[in-house]
Amino acid sequence: MTALLEVRDLVKHFVADRSVFGRPTAFIKAVDGVSFHVDAGETLALVGESGCGKSTVSRLVLRLIEPDAGSVHFEGHDLLALKANELRAFRRDAQIIFQDPYASLNPRMTVSQILTEPLALHDLVPPARRRERVEELLRLVGLEPRFARRYPHEFSGGQRQRIAIARALAVEPKLIICDEPVSALDVSIRSQILNLLRDLQDRLGLAYIFVSHDLAVVKHIADRVAVMNLGGIVETAEAQALFASPRHPYSRALLSAIPVPKPRAKRSRILLQGEMPSALNPPSGCRFHTRCRYVIDRCRIEAPQLHGDATGHATACHRTAELPPPDALEADSAVSSSLERLVAAFSKPAEVPASAGVDIVGEKPSTGI
Ligand SMILES: Nc1ncnc2c1ncn2[C@@H]1O[C@H](COP(=O)(O)OP(=O)(O)OP(=O)(O)O)[C@@H](O)[C@H]1O
Ligand code: SF4
Ligand SMILES: [Mg+2]
Repeated sequence: MTALLEVRDLVKHFVADRSVFGRPTAFIKAVDGVSFHVDAGETLALVGESGCGKSTVSRLVLRLIEPDAGSVHFEGHDLLALKANELRAFRRDAQIIFQDPYASLNPRMTVSQILTEPLALHDLVPPARRRERVEELLRLVGLEPRFARRYPHEFSGGQRQRIAIARALAVEPKLIICDEPVSALDVSIRSQILNLLRDLQDRLGLAYIFVSHDLAVVKHIADRVAVMNLGGIVETAEAQALFASPRHPYSRALLSAIPVPKPRAKRSRILLQGEMPSALNPPSGCRFHTRCRYVIDRCRIEAPQLHGDATGHATACHRTAELPPPDALEADSAVSSSLERLVAAFSKPAEVPASAGVDIVGEKPSTGI
């Protein structure tokens, strides 16, 4: 079966400095050989520390920026070979939702205008039926149709994110990239938006690429997870397998920071030594070697490739087979400040109730935006 999205060896280096003659002299290796796939109707989470390249991958997949190398296929079609009219058609199939729903909504347009714009752009619904379609979309995301006449500033953060989701849904996409869609929202509202996304996925068969640094949220929503470090994927697996038994030392450190739900359960938090290296001058060999407790000489020279087992659990580490099981890990003593910040982010639980959160209308404007 053809995957909905197939990404192969994607590379994007941004120019960081130029000589006086304008020749590039330094590059930020934001994305450096990333491969993954997304099947129809599934959620792939992209996780990793700030600056590891998650948003750049998202923008490359949507062709909002052009890659330096690699390929992206959507339903078997080579996206990089699309002509302008074909690209416009693809823009219907794949949408993006950003972290800050206020910045992504035009403050001078009413909700009705915001939702009508894509309908008109893609000529999806005849003008006479557009108002009705706007009302349908609002109902779909749990907002009252009468809100159509209001402006974005009249809504709370959670409601604005619902409007952004409705705008993405207007073109009936097959794939939505959700780039940190709940991290700017209050915890209580977060769970409503996550439940709404899941509910919409069930009803409409949507696929998501869910970008997040919050593993507690990812655990709740993802079918599969790809862990990124410094422009590359270091581990990818079914979410259940990854959370139960992470194999890469970096994934183990990240996952050890998620709060354990059972009051008496214990887990040693693995603390990484040193700051995350810069994408401007990434370490040779394995990019994690400067922070890895299992480093050997080979790691400093040779970049490990992503190797999968029969279940599709793939790891990029020379020593995968030799590492102790995750339970046997002991905590380190030294703490990197970037990891501390990450750990602080993880310690906010997602608190997602089982019900599909469509309580909405009375939601108070959030102060947490
Ligand atoms: N347009 C750009 N020009 C130059 N460098 C860029 C550009 N966009 C991103 N970068 C750099 O590329 C690297 C990856 O950035 P990216 O935004 O993809 O990371 P991220 O994983 O999404 O981070 P965050 O979790 O903070 O959103 C970073 O070092 C960033 O500074
Ligand atoms: S390849 Fe070496 S440095 Fe990289 S994660 Fe594995 S053991 Fe650590
Ligand atoms: Mg980002």
